Amino acid sequence: MHHFHYSGSSLHCESVDLAGVAKLYGTPTYVYSAATMADNYSRLQRGLAGLDAQPCYAMKANSNIAILRHFANLGAGFDLVSGGEIRRVLAAGAHVKTSVFAGVGKTEAEIKLALENGIFSFHVESEPELARINHVAGKLGVKAPIAIRVNPDVDAHTHAKITTGKSDNKFGIPLKHAAAAYEAAAKYPHLQIKGVQMHIGSQLTSVAPFVEAVEKVGPFAAELKAKYGITYFSIGGGMGIIYKDALASGQQAWWDAQPADQRPLTPETYGAALVPRLKPLGLKILLEHGRFMVGNSGVLVARVEHLKRGAGKNFLVVDAAMNDLVRPAMYDSYHEIVPLHRDSSRRALVADIVGPICESGDCFAKDRQLQELGEGELLAFMSAGAYGYTMASRYNTRGMAAEVLVNGGKFELINTRETFEQMIAGEKVPAFLK
Ligand code: LLP
Repeated sequence: MHHFHYSGSSLHCESVDLAGVAKLYGTPTYVYSAATMADNYSRLQRGLAGLDAQPCYAMKANSNIAILRHFANLGAGFDLVSGGEIRRVLAAGAHVKTSVFAGVGKTEAEIKLALENGIFSFHVESEPELARINHVAGKLGVKAPIAIRVNPDVDAHTHAKITTGKSDNKFGIPLKHAAAAYEAAAKYPHLQIKGVQMHIGSQLTSVAPFVEAVEKVGPFAAELKAKYGITYFSIGGGMGIIYKDALASGQQAWWDAQPADQRPLTPETYGAALVPRLKPLGLKILLEHGRFMVGNSGVLVARVEHLKRGAGKNFLVVDAAMNDLVRPAMYDSYHEIVPLHRDSSRRALVADIVGPICESGDCFAKDRQLQELGEGELLAFMSAGAYGYTMASRYNTRGMAAEVLVNGGKFELINTRETFEQMIAGEKVPAFLK
């Protein structure tokens, strides 16, 4: 469920007309719904009622400091992966002490920054990393809290580039070697064993792989509790969202119409399957969902530049491009595309929806059917709240898009459109070329 809907013929985010936002701030612009994020957060919490559960929002999905502040206000900690993300949490006025630090290549400087800011725990991906964290903690004269990321070798049945829990992925320590890794960790004087972690992949659309992973790692977590007194089990993130029927899925009627055996994964189904399996462990459960929290809370608003009619093929050229939203080019992912002004009297158009960047990969959708649109008209890419802006680049010297946050009938710019001067601020022509 989300808060994007047509009011009359105009697409709204909560009670704000998106065309008005585009008029004020231009395009391409990401627009986010604060209410949708809050709903997602509280549904996840309710789904896991009965557990001592702490959501640590995976901020790589969307790390704008306004959004971090919103989640912090809701009670979230963060799953962060770099020194930059630690500094974003601080810039948002939020706490690092309820956050966990993941990633396969944390630098000494990043480990130091995390320790100085009282990180809740490091999620350790390898044995050399244990030694490095111990070394940095020793220099600071502290004990570093850690959990080891266990790779349960479960197939998440998702896109190959976002599967993480198979034995041939670079992540974590295989379950069969994990006991030895904990023994090694226990010998380091500057490490404090606090928990165990796993994450099997992203955009999972069924609960079965989560169940399989919890059933594999749960007994190991119980052993660690008995042996080292661990207090938490982080079960990672990965809950998928609706991309195909994104707009319709904002309405309860759409959910009611889904056949029982084809219902998309919800926090309720997720909780119903996992709570009974996790509760007997008597551990605090951390959750690292990113996409579920923000994915359906954001759209990318763009403007049509031209409708180019080719031989047997139409191209709708828009002012957003793969630099703004790379997911279709990178993962062949589907984003629903809808007009901001809906007009049922128009003819249907079948076209490739493309950006202006000079490569064929700059294509958002092939042979997509939508209402006929012309130059200057506006459209929205749905389900763009997660891994949209955070994966954007400046390719073709296109500045980063603007970002706007809506709350009820109010909206505010939370990130200005990047200017050319900002883009080249760090560049210079060396003396030997002058
Ligand atoms: N925890 C860990 C250790 C992770 O590596 C990730 C995501 C998450 C949590 C959050 O996963 P989520 O709940 O968002 O599925 N750029 C890709 C997704 C990459 C996910 C990377 N790791 C995409 O656009 O689909």
